[in-house]
Amino acid sequence: MEKIVSLAKRRGFINQSSEIYGGFASCYDYGPLGVELKNNIKKAWWHEMVQLRNDIIGVDSAILMSPKVWEASGHLGAGFTDPLVECKNCHKRFRKEEIKGKCPECGGKLTEEKKFNLMMKTIVGPVEDKAATTYLRAETCQGIYMNYEFVKDSMRLKIPFGIAQIGKAFRNEITPGNFIYRTREFEQMEMQFFIKPEDSKKWFDYWKKQRMQWYLDLGVDRKNLRLREHEKNELPHYAKKGVDIEYKFPWGWAEIEGIHDRGDWDLSNHSKHSGRDLKYYNKEKNESFIPHIIETSAGADRSLLVFLVDAFQEIKGGRTKTTKSTKETEIVLSLNKKLAPIKVAILPLVKNDSKIVKKAKEIYDEIKPYFMARYDQIGSIGRRYRRQDEIGTPYCVTIDFDTLKRNDVTVRNRDTMRQKRVKIKELVDYLRDKLNE
Ligand code: GAP
Repeated sequence: MEKIVSLAKRRGFINQSSEIYGGFASCYDYGPLGVELKNNIKKAWWHEMVQLRNDIIGVDSAILMSPKVWEASGHLGAGFTDPLVECKNCHKRFRKEEIKGKCPECGGKLTEEKKFNLMMKTIVGPVEDKAATTYLRAETCQGIYMNYEFVKDSMRLKIPFGIAQIGKAFRNEITPGNFIYRTREFEQMEMQFFIKPEDSKKWFDYWKKQRMQWYLDLGVDRKNLRLREHEKNELPHYAKKGVDIEYKFPWGWAEIEGIHDRGDWDLSNHSKHSGRDLKYYNKEKNESFIPHIIETSAGADRSLLVFLVDAFQEIKGGRTKTTKSTKETEIVLSLNKKLAPIKVAILPLVKNDSKIVKKAKEIYDEIKPYFMARYDQIGSIGRRYRRQDEIGTPYCVTIDFDTLKRNDVTVRNRDTMRQKRVKIKELVDYLRDKLNE
């Protein structure tokens, strides 16, 4: 993990939030490469879960909602709490099983175990009274339930159908950690599939397989992924059944996505609390029922960590034996091409030949409307290749003396390191084909 954290910082993927003030409690910022990688992950999810499906549509709901939502959903109750002890002296809170008898910070006496809620409170409006208190959403799906009727009616949807959303969620996690694995502000990619009650097993099994396949299709090693069914006592308060997709991180197996059978928990409770009839009416069959929900709930940040860890390769002594730097350890980030932050690097062989530099800049201008490309002329060509390998750039285009004579360039493949001459006028099509392979 140290190596991943160091690469993420050094190469502009991830920074601690408010770093110049010493950081802020388990929050992180995505830098220039991090934001590209995360956007590509979200794009790949949306493509699979919305664009390719005629039974799922998307929404983008507000982070702030009425506090009544969280009363109805059960998140303000005992179900969404962590049992903790508190130091009577310094008031720090700990999980009982993580400490022995006294406060590990100041040696103070501890309270009995109490339950602390994970919802993040906030004040809305200028007057700090109770009426203005609400919560930052702890899961994005509640915004989907708020729009269930609106979306179903406006889009004339028939069950089964799904609603998808990507967005921020917040939890007052007591023990955040492992870099971006568990943070207090994070992003979820959630889909809620509304079904007939009797079809829940069929759709639960279906979504379990589909979601596992998504990680495999994006290149995650099968041996690092597994499904783990929830025991009854670890089910979240809203779920009848749950399965986690787990990844084998450097510290061990841990959840990256949950697939839950939420039964009629959400729509029944929101119906009861709001007074709105949220039943589904099937006029043709003369039936009505509260739809059951199968949800798929993935973390954008956790997926990002999975893709980084899984793609990270450290090659002792380097891959090329011909350069001076053969003793150096090389890092290659073998990210799936769809996810790579930069798709193409444009590299003039030398920076002190004005004709080569000019040609390279022209080619960069030609390429950049089509692909996320970067121009780099600093350092030897070998070093520049390695810098691109380290951030997972699938293709490097080198402009050399022959380019000026023959109007072609060298395209180097990150994984095989093979180089191929390609005509400049065919370059965009060539790269497009390669990137879509
Ligand atoms: N709507 C269901 C739900 O929120 P969850 O298992 O609590 O279920 C789903 O969360 C996913 O959200 C997790 O598998 C993880 O990827 C992400 N997630 C949850 N808490 C997180 C945290 N504190 N930091 C980062 N990601 C988190």
